[in-house]
Amino acid sequence: MVNSRFLGLLSLLTLFVSAEARPQSHAVWAADSAIARKQGNGLDSSQRASVSYEHGELQWGLRLLYEATGNRTYYDYLLAGANNIVYDNGTIHGNYAYVSKTADYSLDPVRTGPTFLYLYQKTGQTKWKSAADTFKVQLDAHPRTGQGQFWHKKQYYNQGWLDGIYMGDVFYAQYVKDFQPSNSTAWADITQQFNLMYQNSLQASSDVHNTGLLYHGYDYSHTAVWAASDRGHSPEIWNRALGWYMMALVDVLEVIPTSNAGYATLRGILQNLAPKLRDAADPSTGVWWLVMTQPGREGNYFESSGAAMFVYSLLKGIRRGFITDTNGSIRAAAEKAYQYMTAHWVVENSDGTMGWTNTVQVGSLSGNGTFEYYVGVPTVLNDLKGLAAFLLASVEYEKL
Ligand SMILES: *[C@@H]1O[C@H](CO)[C@@H](O)[C@H](O)[C@H]1NC(C)=O
Ligand SMILES: *[C@@H]1O[C@H](CO)[C@@H](O)[C@H](O)[C@H]1NC(C)=O
Ligand SMILES: *[C@@H]1O[C@H](CO)[C@@H](O)[C@H](O)[C@H]1NC(C)=O
Ligand SMILES: *[C@@H]1O[C@H](CO)[C@@H](O)[C@H](O)[C@H]1NC(C)=O
Ligand SMILES: *[C@@H]1O[C@H](CO)[C@@H](O)[C@H](O)[C@H]1NC(C)=O
Repeated sequence: MVNSRFLGLLSLLTLFVSAEARPQSHAVWAADSAIARKQGNGLDSSQRASVSYEHGELQWGLRLLYEATGNRTYYDYLLAGANNIVYDNGTIHGNYAYVSKTADYSLDPVRTGPTFLYLYQKTGQTKWKSAADTFKVQLDAHPRTGQGQFWHKKQYYNQGWLDGIYMGDVFYAQYVKDFQPSNSTAWADITQQFNLMYQNSLQASSDVHNTGLLYHGYDYSHTAVWAASDRGHSPEIWNRALGWYMMALVDVLEVIPTSNAGYATLRGILQNLAPKLRDAADPSTGVWWLVMTQPGREGNYFESSGAAMFVYSLLKGIRRGFITDTNGSIRAAAEKAYQYMTAHWVVENSDGTMGWTNTVQVGSLSGNGTFEYYVGVPTVLNDLKGLAAFLLASVEYEKL
């Protein structure tokens, strides 16, 4: 009796001490932990310049955290990270030099572009404008499908992937807002990127496991091994691909002029998807399956990066008024998922930093796109794609 009371007191005390040892804010904790591990700083593990979308994603989160807290640590870190991949004369280097030389036309590196645009706004230094122009030149020449969708990469002939919308179009929209705000052709093109992805990847009500959400991608020429013979889409809904797309919607809705027709189109897509996302959450945990088309199937699991992206998108969409949430059920779903995340996927390391679990390493349509493929990819501890998404979700959650 005495012993168990003592133990109870001790564990309370431990809880108290560990709660004190780390920042109160999960957003601050996630950011400080990424910084302590030198994640997302523009360098790869061999200290070579790396133009990486996940660094771009973290920098987006650090920027929002800087704006929310006024703490310059976050700004300085993202600036140093961008300086690691852009020379003083504005040349983007490292792996991008390779990519552009071989005209790989990958949308992935373009996700670092919003950082350059932000730094140009902040500093006025032309190097950031030059670096952003490099990506715009790439987009201007980017290969497209017959309908006008950017190919995900030159090697993925005629393929649109949800991921590519986040990688290319958040930058494209911010660039047009900053330098060509009345270019209606450009706004129509950006809107079209979202809309083609939506129309070509939306599950039909006759599809098995219909969730009303979006398949990972489609092949306009219907020749990929995974392409459905009727519409060309891939066979499964992969949570992180949809997560990228949802984040792109709320981030671009913030920059597209509300008077532009594209605003209503994007908002309409978001309004359609948000309640379906709420309904696709697992009823008991509140989070989402890795392969959303196959809930509960053996091998499937609750994956953390997609969930964090969904929470960020839903909470931001509601806060900014892009999503109408009449009875509060969408907000409640996002909050429930967030609580699961902090309880199950956040771990405290002995050095006081935060660890982040259960993020799947990759999901690509370079293979066969089957359920077996997606569930066979390992999860990675502290994967930046997931940790950065958790930072974004936390910034939003802490604004509630
Ligand atoms: C800013 O953040 C860093 C990292 O969390 C922290 O060490 C520092 O005390 C903060 N500065 C201020 C002024 O709050
Ligand atoms: C930009 O600077 C880098 C590094 O100093 C240099 O290698 C490169 O030739 C320069 N590019 C141009 C176009 O001047
Ligand atoms: C307007 O946008 C289109 C599509 O991005 C581009 O090709 C064109 O050069 C832009 N026009 C101007 C005047 O900037
Ligand atoms: C909120 O409305 C949706 C329909 O839009 C319904 O499915 C859901 O059950 C409602 N939730 C609550 C808590 O009333
Ligand atoms: C698809 O690829 C996975 C490995 O990524 C493999 O395990 C599976 O057997 C393949 N399925 C088919 C139908 O080829």
